Amino acid sequence: MEFTLDATSNKARACTIKTAHSTIQTPVFMPVGTLGTIKALDMQDVIDTLGAEIILANTYHTYLRPGDKTIAKMGKLHGFSTYPKSFLTDSGGFQAFSLSDISKPKEDGIEFRSHIDGSKHFFTPKKVIDIQHNLGSDIMMILDDLVALPATKERIKLSIERTTEWAKDSIEYFRTKQKEGIGVDQNIFAIIQGGIDKEMRTKSATELCALDYDGFAIGGLSVGELNNEMYDTVEHTTQYMPEDKPRYLMGVGTPEDLIENIERGVDMFDCVMPTRNARNGTLFTSFGKLNIKGAKFKEDPSPIDAECECPTCKRYSRAYINHLFRSREITYFRLATLHNLYYYLNLMKQAREAILQDRYTEFKKEFYAKRSK
Ligand code: GUN
Ligand code: ZN
Repeated sequence: MEFTLDATSNKARACTIKTAHSTIQTPVFMPVGTLGTIKALDMQDVIDTLGAEIILANTYHTYLRPGDKTIAKMGKLHGFSTYPKSFLTDSGGFQAFSLSDISKPKEDGIEFRSHIDGSKHFFTPKKVIDIQHNLGSDIMMILDDLVALPATKERIKLSIERTTEWAKDSIEYFRTKQKEGIGVDQNIFAIIQGGIDKEMRTKSATELCALDYDGFAIGGLSVGELNNEMYDTVEHTTQYMPEDKPRYLMGVGTPEDLIENIERGVDMFDCVMPTRNARNGTLFTSFGKLNIKGAKFKEDPSPIDAECECPTCKRYSRAYINHLFRSREITYFRLATLHNLYYYLNLMKQAREAILQDRYTEFKKEFYAKRSK
């Protein structure tokens, strides 16, 4: 992976990341394609309309169904899904923790039961690397140990100590495999944990950032803490992260969260919010959120967002989208998902432009001013 820091505006960064499959300009939002598909979209939409250079898929889900060995045989994630650009895959630690009926973190891995058929599985740091080798992702994530907040300091301490131990095993295994010719074009990121405890975050970041990783993520946030607690934790943590490697904030967030965390030095984001909210009727616009099911849109001839250039806004009225939603027409899901992702990706483009011109603070002010109207 090639990394260049193109510009900064105070702490906000504009970078270029080159993987074997695409060139990614940051700040970047990665649409979530858990099962190797962005729900409701065709890969053609993702490539042509959204111009996404990187999307996310999940180890936990694809391992359970259809199985990483099947995906490997069918040309890995790129060949199987036909998405030719970059994939980032999450390790499964978080999904085993949040989705599985029973998940038990242990000394050497995480035991969990499948949310599909209840079958028992055990993820270790090496096993999730083997799976991600089969998936062929451009960026893989290490297995990390998560704790539900609020947690005791002891439990948080155990979580970061375990995550550091696993991170040491992971990087050694990953680099050894590369010397054997496996995963040569792949990259691996470690995940900083520590809840909202600054001392724990310092310890986790310092220990992990000393290791030979291609990039670093901040995990364990957006799990019920206050917005300001998240922002303070990120601001605190980024100062211990290297300047010459990508910084990824996992599972975040709202448009406001992205704007705030870019200001604190984050480069990469992913979240189910634009896709999931689209399906529930919540659409993101330059003037804030809009719930399309509202009766007031029944005869509204204007587009979802007059400033948006997405195919949905260029063609259809709020009245029509409101009708599709109320009638549960499947076309609704595609049109709404396209709009929301277009909004998120366009917001990142504008943020990058502002950083390149060293006017990020003004950009942020304009972003908020439009919403309060
Ligand atoms: N997705 C959102 N947060 C996290 C995290 O802390 N760890 C992992 N592995 N995935 C995440
Ligand atoms: Zn639109």
